[in-house]
Amino acid sequence: MNYYELKGVNGLKPKVYITRKIPSQILGKIKDSFDVTMWNEEETPVPREELERQIQTVDGLYCLLTESIDRELLEMAPNLKIISNMAVGYNNIDVESATEKGIMVTNTPGVLTETTADLTFALLMSTSRRIVESDRYLREGNWKTWSPMLLTGQDIYDATLGIIGLGRIGEAVARRAAGFNMNVLYHNRSRKLEAEQELGITYTSMETLLKESDFVCVLTPYTPETKNLIDREELALMKETAILVNTSRGGIVNEEALYLALKNEKIWAAGLDVFEEEPVSLGHPLLTLSNVVVLPHIGSASKKTRLKMADVAADNLIMGLQNLSPKHLVNAKVVGNQR
Ligand code: DGY
Repeated sequence: MNYYELKGVNGLKPKVYITRKIPSQILGKIKDSFDVTMWNEEETPVPREELERQIQTVDGLYCLLTESIDRELLEMAPNLKIISNMAVGYNNIDVESATEKGIMVTNTPGVLTETTADLTFALLMSTSRRIVESDRYLREGNWKTWSPMLLTGQDIYDATLGIIGLGRIGEAVARRAAGFNMNVLYHNRSRKLEAEQELGITYTSMETLLKESDFVCVLTPYTPETKNLIDREELALMKETAILVNTSRGGIVNEEALYLALKNEKIWAAGLDVFEEEPVSLGHPLLTLSNVVVLPHIGSASKKTRLKMADVAADNLIMGLQNLSPKHLVNAKVVGNQR
């Protein structure tokens, strides 16, 4: 693709805005073809006013899950052709409005599957065997002697794992569970017969999954249908010894109901990588409980995977602005109606 073919409006190179500092090699790749402006901060999200200012003139947006790309913002973006989200989840983007306006939306599936499944399993193990609590116990000088029932947890080996949402990550978690001889149940919008055969897993209703599982892993995408999918009634179905792990999105689990279930020992523990409001406030009731392990949304945070995600997001953006169909287009309906 030469410079001439990449000309934007008025014969200039297409303009791209990047909402966070990204690795230099990825930035370089985008800069080769486009006129790039980047919010040059690693740990501070771009303020909304700045994003509103930038969006008015750009052809492409490279953003993170921390930015809300809503209808109001899209109304301010007459030239915008593509929104490339550096995440597999895209609940931060109003995809319907983008599609209506002929704007492509892309994400980064695949490259983060195994890393996120690893972290899901890490939460499952650290909650069941009280790893964080035990570390704290030792460091705080409480370890006086070995004792028969000291810091005893729940077994993983031979236990039943319930996976809610059998996408790529759900399947990768099921593969890990096989090594622990777990009995794996799953619930999904549609049955996956091939996965059942390949992984030896069983489809059940949500109710059966919640009643029978020792571990419940939430791995479904966040949509209006899955908001508060795990609420008071669902938590009430779980065993008193059961553990809930959420590495998807915070809003899928009702946090107030979860707090009450944990505090009143209706379930045994929870491992949470995600929260309804992020970053979660330090005054959040869930943070007062010792049977909760909390993490700052690091499911995909291995060096290799984050670089791959950044790279896939760059490729999506470049292809979109070169009028080629990006590999990971979320809103296929936009095709034929692109700006
Ligand atoms: C995603 O990609 O949606 C994760 O939540 C962050 O990796």
